[in-house]
Amino acid sequence: MVILKQRSEIDKIRASNAIVAEVLVALKEKVKEGITTRQLDRLSEELVLKKGAKPAFKGYRGYPFSLCASVNDEIIHGLPSERVLVDGDIIGLDFGACYKGYYGDAALTVPVGTISPEAVRLLQATEESLVLAIREARVGNRLGDISAAVQGHVETAGFSVVRDFVGHGIGRNLHEEPQIPNYGVQGRGIKLKAGMVLAIEPMVNVGSYKIKMRPDGWTAVTADGKLSAHFEHTIAITENGPEILSRLQ
Ligand code: MF3
Ligand code: CO
Repeated sequence: MVILKQRSEIDKIRASNAIVAEVLVALKEKVKEGITTRQLDRLSEELVLKKGAKPAFKGYRGYPFSLCASVNDEIIHGLPSERVLVDGDIIGLDFGACYKGYYGDAALTVPVGTISPEAVRLLQATEESLVLAIREARVGNRLGDISAAVQGHVETAGFSVVRDFVGHGIGRNLHEEPQIPNYGVQGRGIKLKAGMVLAIEPMVNVGSYKIKMRPDGWTAVTADGKLSAHFEHTIAITENGPEILSRLQ
């Protein structure tokens, strides 16, 4: 069952996502050659606590950190570690907060120093696919319109969409219905309604969409070892169209 939100609840989800956005902006500024992903994790936790919010991922199904930091061929749920970022890396920063009982969730992938032209194209195509997907998040459309927008843009660019992980509804829980695949058919799926709050999160691979799990039980990596990117926003569907609740300042 998809839980529709009142305007007052959307206000609370917006507040939580504003904290998420602020943390992500701060992390993005810290991404440089020489920093470790564990340092980014610690910073994210300090900042969210300072805001009076809780890190949403920590302890969720036993996840041990506040941040997901996914480098290069890591798709999502990369575990922060003593790994040092080097010039040419790309790093996915995925962060969630819980504030006054409501969740926020967003992600972006950023370059470390100078990255390859292919990596530049990957980041652009993935972010654009999210923008196009959000544009489809309007009353009267169907879930498949969101999915197809991501898939169409990504595959036209010559990349592939990950099948094994999906976006999700969000509110009083980090993960609610519906699941939002990044592949699908226009006009199919449930009808989109005002009051739906969705975390749309394309995960895009340069090569095959196939994934492998690391023995750590969390980190999903590309099966072929090629690069992957991830962007995510929490959005609300209103009568006046989609509103991005996690917009970066
Ligand atoms: N944005 C991711 C998601 O919605 C992050 C979850 S990490 C976890 O699944 F640790 F909380 F699982
Ligand atoms: Co999410």
